[in-house]
Amino acid sequence: MDRIRIRGGNRLQGEIPISGAKNAALPLMIASLLTDETLTLRNVPRLADVQLLLRIIRNHGADMTVDGKRAGQLGHGETIHLTARQIVDTVAPYDLVSKMRASFWVLGPILARCGEARISLPGGCAIGTRPVDLHLMGMEKLGAKIELDGGYVVASAPKGLTGNRIVFPKVSVGATHNVLMAAALAKGESILENAAREPEVGDLAECLQKMGAKIEGIGTSRLIVQGVDRLHGATHSVLPDRIEAGTYAMAAGMAGGDVKLVGARGDLFDVLFGILAQAGIEMTTEADGLRVQRDGNGIEPVNVETQPFPGFPTDLQAQFMALMCKSTGTAAVRETIFENRFMHVQELVRLGAEITLNGDTALVHGVETLRGAEVMATDLRASVSLVIAALAAEGETTISRVYHLDRGFESLEGKLTHCGADIERISG
Ligand code: EPZ
Repeated sequence: MDRIRIRGGNRLQGEIPISGAKNAALPLMIASLLTDETLTLRNVPRLADVQLLLRIIRNHGADMTVDGKRAGQLGHGETIHLTARQIVDTVAPYDLVSKMRASFWVLGPILARCGEARISLPGGCAIGTRPVDLHLMGMEKLGAKIELDGGYVVASAPKGLTGNRIVFPKVSVGATHNVLMAAALAKGESILENAAREPEVGDLAECLQKMGAKIEGIGTSRLIVQGVDRLHGATHSVLPDRIEAGTYAMAAGMAGGDVKLVGARGDLFDVLFGILAQAGIEMTTEADGLRVQRDGNGIEPVNVETQPFPGFPTDLQAQFMALMCKSTGTAAVRETIFENRFMHVQELVRLGAEITLNGDTALVHGVETLRGAEVMATDLRASVSLVIAALAAEGETTISRVYHLDRGFESLEGKLTHCGADIERISG
């Protein structure tokens, strides 16, 4: 298994190209199952999760061709053409769905297009139990009959889905994606209340519009969908990854320096500007991206609480905690989205951090010096928080189980090396 070795202490200086968003690319790829024509997606990041999802949607009958960039080039992503002329299999098996939760979102498109679907329940994962009740409630509201059988969701709507008003009791990104895709092909009007407002939901909705879907309220928590009989092919570019951009902003803040995040869009995370400014990190919008600077001054402690968009994203909580490990005081980091998203705490402590956990809140007492150690990646965002801490730690840090990083960060070592970090991958 590959490991990553980092020797801390270098400031970061230069440009980092921001890739297409993993969490937009995945639902966009799934949307290809809604039509028998070709969906062309540009700026698709090269990630393990994208590869895995390709396997899953091919299993259902999607064909794929790729126009790529040369290996080693950074920044522009790939263009993929997905064509699901026919859904050849309406079953999504456990061995595939259990590897990646987002694959459960094939439920909506397959059910809407074929009138039936048998999709494995995804099971829990390292960050929490992560139920799918809201997805199932949405499908039932659209007229599907749902049964659970041997760990599978068996959904049927032989006469097709029918539009309805769906009120989500809790904001769920995945349930919004899933129900939105199903509603696009349902008969009549659907209204999704308390829908997730994450930019990745907006990106999916815009792509669906290009495919012929009728959707109003994009970017709000009330999506109104007039179902259509069929969707057609389209071309869409995946929006830039705000979580990747936020991660490198925190890396630059932690290590100090001056980094341009090329292609990053400030409007995708307003909340971060204020929080980083309070921490003493300057982030400014430039024509082609965002610039992040921190001079020699200390990092100020800032309390944060994760919230659905436009609040502080849970997918940046671990990275922010790493940053706070070197603040000049105590910061409270509260996780409200997932019940178990603190696995990075014990690994950060191995690097010398002082963190006390109290329920859903971590109190991070800043220390002057972090020291390199052997640590272990536990999930995607937790892993990259260790990279951030290691960039500012004295000596050498080795991170094992880096396959977690490969799920969601394209060319991480390449991008950081380019800015002066001392980081390398050790194979085997
Ligand atoms: C998406 O997961 C993202 N994944 C996650 O990113 C992200 O952390 C999360 O949204 C929150 O922003 C992708 O986009 C592929 P949710 P999702 O449904 O859709 C509860 C990363 O690191 N819930 O919005 O699975 C759930 O347990 C990943 O890139 C129900 O109770 O998250 C959680 O507490 C990790 N019932 C909350 O809602 C349901 O039916 C939000 O989950 C569904 C969710």
